[in-house]
Amino acid sequence: MAEHNGDGSASGMTQKWADSDIRDVLSESAKNIGAGSPTDAGRRWRLPTEREDPIVLAGGIPDMPTVPVADFQESILAVLAEETEDAMNYGGWLGFEGLRESVAKRQSEIEGIDVTPDHFIMHNGSSGALDNVCKAFINPGDVVIVERPSFSGTVRSMQGYMAEIVEVDIDKDGISVDGVRQALAEATAAGKTVKFVYTIADYHNPTGATMNLERRKALLELCGEYNVLVLEDAAYTELYFDDSPPPSLFAMGGGEGVLRMGSFSKIIATGLRSGWVEAAPRYTEALARVRFDMGNNPLIQRALTRYVDSGALEPHVENMRDLYRQKCDALANSLEEFCEPYVRFNRPEGGFFLWVECIGVGAMELTQTAAREGLMFPAGAFFYRDGAEADDSHVRLAFSNAPIEELQQAGQRMRDVFQMLVD
Ligand SMILES: Cc1ncc(COP(=O)(O)O)c(C=O)c1O
Repeated sequence: MAEHNGDGSASGMTQKWADSDIRDVLSESAKNIGAGSPTDAGRRWRLPTEREDPIVLAGGIPDMPTVPVADFQESILAVLAEETEDAMNYGGWLGFEGLRESVAKRQSEIEGIDVTPDHFIMHNGSSGALDNVCKAFINPGDVVIVERPSFSGTVRSMQGYMAEIVEVDIDKDGISVDGVRQALAEATAAGKTVKFVYTIADYHNPTGATMNLERRKALLELCGEYNVLVLEDAAYTELYFDDSPPPSLFAMGGGEGVLRMGSFSKIIATGLRSGWVEAAPRYTEALARVRFDMGNNPLIQRALTRYVDSGALEPHVENMRDLYRQKCDALANSLEEFCEPYVRFNRPEGGFFLWVECIGVGAMELTQTAAREGLMFPAGAFFYRDGAEADDSHVRLAFSNAPIEELQQAGQRMRDVFQMLVD
């Protein structure tokens, strides 16, 4: 601890704290989570490079030129003029009723179910939603089962609530239900409480996989047997290229035993910071009880309501599906044309990511050299609890944000890097 002057003199008050002093006073929770990777923070990241034209395939960020900025400008100005007081005041625990109504109507149509505003609590993106869920349900030492690999931001949040993370393999058809069964049996035999199975069932981050119908059924049945909640992360669900994914776990469970997190981030813009938890009202009430942020973003929630209610969102999402299909094809074709001996991957049916196995070179080394050569993407290691020890052969390439011309060039640039390292 820092030494104080004892007499309360000014020099004592301004004394600097050493790093070790700060570590002493940190909570166990803060000590339990590492610094994280740039992808956790969602910022566009760049590593040092000599190239003036870097291609960045890093973050799960939507295409920027197509964000409906003009529509938003209009609706924000209208809200400021017509709903000044409500927009400039605290937001309330559940979020703006009008938006909860619009989202309930939309989700009822998308999921083929009948949900009401009481099923929704609005949040600072699905990240805020997840934080609220963890706060309401996780006791230190509770087990959370996650896919292996999984979105690192979520896993870190859960670690912040002192959950024990148990990873279960995922393949192209989703999480291994046999793996979940084994993890549940082992945790239960060890006297531990398993709280959630967290799954990104549609267009998974980072692998792009989608859980098939059979596994959805089996997972729900299994979690029902063990009284374990399913936490369904639907960040990418609407961004399919051709057919929509299988029914949501929430809909399949009849609204019981599943909490589903949704977001406007990937279908409109991450900067809106607007997402939600969809769950039976008993759950949303519990979430509201432990929340304390005075309600997030009343201005944006009102602007969003106008945008959604205007009918402009549906054609926008349609266009985005088309655009991301083209972007995915551009990157996948380019890799196939130039990098064939060095890479293996499955084409996803939606979402933002290609999960690429690198042949003949470690993924960490590839990532670092590629960055110097002006091609930036995270190593797969970021998405595992044990980092490169768990997997040093995959990289995650995001095709969502880069322009199509750059995606077409990415394969050639990647081939040059492979040739530098492999030959
Ligand atoms: C699977 C997944 N869930 C949640 C998030 C966070 O999204 P939001 O902006 O809604 O907080 C991301 C962002 O990359 C993600 O990939």
